[in-house]
Amino acid sequence: MPNLKYLGHSCFLLSANNTSIIFDPFLTGNPANIAQVDEVNPNYILVSHAHEDHLGNGIEIAKRTGAITISTFEVANLFINQGCTAHGMHLGGSHKFDFGSVKIVPAFHGSGVSGGHACGFVIDFFGSKIYFAGDTCLFSDMMLIGKLGIEYALIPIGDNFTMGPEDALSAVKVIHPKVVIPMHYNTWPLITQDPKKFEELVNSFCNTKVEIMNPGDKLELIF
Ligand code: NI
Ligand code: MN
Repeated sequence: MPNLKYLGHSCFLLSANNTSIIFDPFLTGNPANIAQVDEVNPNYILVSHAHEDHLGNGIEIAKRTGAITISTFEVANLFINQGCTAHGMHLGGSHKFDFGSVKIVPAFHGSGVSGGHACGFVIDFFGSKIYFAGDTCLFSDMMLIGKLGIEYALIPIGDNFTMGPEDALSAVKVIHPKVVIPMHYNTWPLITQDPKKFEELVNSFCNTKVEIMNPGDKLELIF
């Protein structure tokens, strides 16, 4: 059964069947300080955009482990230019991998690379359908992402740089995931949020379950 470990901020480790994916591998400088850079051994690295709190230690991890980075073309090239293996994709594109598939979906945010675009991912990981939104504002096309049949939605609630809790509630209303996991909050004072308040908001309008993960927590994916 797949499991998801939260490494703080927007960094997660998704594992099953000897395959693991790290999302937005921000470890050095991550106040959660759950894992050291040399402790993670992913097979794949998914990077939503190249801001420092998302690209993080990606290149270092890719060099040491030989992990394949999956991202937009411009961000993938950052890895390829450093001699790492990367699979460049772009908005709207899907591709099959040995664990299932990845579809790149838009995120409205800076890309951190000139000519690039921030993205989110819809991943089929051994049958679990996961939407990792990356850094983004609320946008109405999240409704179309919801039509892909999302089981787990990982969405930012921190405000200031991304959606805050109220827009995140609107996102949940159109995505209709079975479970929502808030991310990108409480890393720094500027993005302080009470996830319990977000949970109450969601509970009063939706039948989506809110899973509040503290850094270091591991969640078994039952869907
Ligand atoms: Ni960002
Ligand atoms: Mn960010």
